[in-house]
This record gives sequence, structure tokens and C-alpha cells, in this order.
Amino acid sequence: MTSVLSHSNALEYGKEVLIYFDNRRKFLVKLEQGKKISSDRGTIPVDSIVNKEIGSQVTTSLNVKAWILQPLLIDYLEKGIKRVTQVIYPKDLGLIILMLGLESGYRVLEAGVGSGNTTMVLAHFVKPQGHVFGYENRKEFIEIAKGNLARMGLDKYVTIKYGDIRKGVDERGLDAAIIDIPDPWEALDSLYLALKPSASIAFFIPSMQQLLKLFEAIDEHKGFIDIRAYEILLREIELSRRAIRPSTYMVGHTGFILFARKIIKSSQ
Ligand SMILES: C[S@@+](CC[C@H](N)C(=O)[O-])C[C@H]1O[C@@H](n2cnc3c(N)ncnc32)[C@H](O)[C@@H]1O
Repeated sequence: MTSVLSHSNALEYGKEVLIYFDNRRKFLVKLEQGKKISSDRGTIPVDSIVNKEIGSQVTTSLNVKAWILQPLLIDYLEKGIKRVTQVIYPKDLGLIILMLGLESGYRVLEAGVGSGNTTMVLAHFVKPQGHVFGYENRKEFIEIAKGNLARMGLDKYVTIKYGDIRKGVDERGLDAAIIDIPDPWEALDSLYLALKPSASIAFFIPSMQQLLKLFEAIDEHKGFIDIRAYEILLREIELSRRAIRPSTYMVGHTGFILFARKIIKSSQ
């Protein structure tokens, strides 16, 4: 299966689309012959969608307008995956992608894999030549992550291994790493061995205590430089013709992100 994010504009049976009513009502739907798409806004027969153009408007049985859109990766992160663990949010993943310099062909290390949310993003950016090597120490999560990756056609770009990253990894010469485990300071030697010189690492850290401990451990390790930490606050602006203003509620905290780059340790 190719990635579901292939950009064919043809609305044909088997394709997955995003049915958009408004910013809060969006559904990922597979176009299956003879089926009806049901929501609190009424039903839409799938047969009335095929042969339309992507971006077209349709009307439900309750006379409500909806639009047929091409799903993006973020639509799958928000709507299309099974979550059994905390995941890294899109606001944080955006910076991580840039700071790791992710591109097609990269071989990337990830631990832990959890639900595979971040794995999907990594695979999307390194495909088709690159590969993600994921380590996860809970077997039951590996199956969930594999299911999420297969649903998007990204499984062939990922190898998930059952193991503890703190005890070492099999790969060498990797281009980048992302670490989201509770005690990443215990994984520094594994990371140092697995990465090629100059490769970047992103550590996702939920609390200040963990951030402090990680920073001190990296500082003492001497194998990494360009150490920086960030917290990203994303505030939505509500848009209406009456009043444009920040949303009352926001996600106040997800985690801190610490970045570092591997260097060749000096012998002096
Ligand atoms: C918060 S989840 C990762 C979520 C992932 N970053 C995402 O966005 O979907 C943390 C995962 O790390 C795994 N884990 C914890 N310690 C580990 C270790 N030492 N080696 C490998 N995996 C580990 C846990 O089992 C859990 O699934």
C-alpha cells in the first residue's frame, strides 16, 4: 500500500477523504461503494461523492453543506490514530522536524514509540529512501503503533524493536534521534554510539525536574554541544466577523524540548 497521503485528486472508491463541515466537525472517511456517511448533520451517500472533484461541496440529507478535502498528515494525527499513550503534539513536532533537519533518506532513531504518533511523522518525512528505527519497551504498544502506521501505508519505512534504549541499540551512523522516555539521561551512551557525528537529537521532557537532570547529564557527558531547550505555546485566535480575539482556553503545557548535537569527544 502506498501512503494514504498520495496526492491524487481523483475521488474514487477506496480513497480516504476529509469531510469538512466546520473547524470542529471534520471526519476522515473511506469512500466505500453503496455506503452512507452519517453525522449529526445528516447523511451523505458515498456514491454522490465519487466522480466529483476534490474541494467540491456536498449537501447532507438535512440540507447542511460540507466540503470534500484531501486529508493532510495533521488530519490523521488529530483524527485518524488510536492513542494509548501520551503523544507529542503537532505544535512541538513542527520545531522538532526543523531542528533535526529531517529529510527524505534520513535514518532516524526513536524511543519510545508509544502509539506511533511521532513515528508516523518521522516516517512521512524520511520516506521513501529513509527509515525509522523505533525502540519500545512495552510489547502491547508496539502492536498499536504498527496498526497506526499500516493504516497510513507508512509501515514499510519503520522497524520497531522491543527493547530498552538505555541498554543500547543495534544501529550505527544514524542521522538524527528523538527520545520521549521518562529518564532520557540514562540513554546518552546508547545515543552517542548510534548517531553519526554532528547528528541532532530532540528530547521531549514533561517536567522541569527531568529537564534539569537531563541538562546536567548532557553537560557532564561532553559528547554533545549546541544544547538548547524550548517550550512552545500555541494560542489559537478565534476568527469571527464580530470579534477576533485569542481563544479563552488553550493547551497550557505539553512538555519541554531539549535539542543537542553529537560531537567527536576530544581526547584532552
Ligand atoms: C509518551 S510515550 C511516547 C509517545 C510518542 N513520542 C508519540 O508521540 O506517540 C513513551 C513511551 O516510551 C516507552 N518507554 C519508556 N522507557 C523506555 C525505554 N527505556 N526504552 C524504550 N521505550 C521506553 C513507554 O513504554 C512509552 O510507550
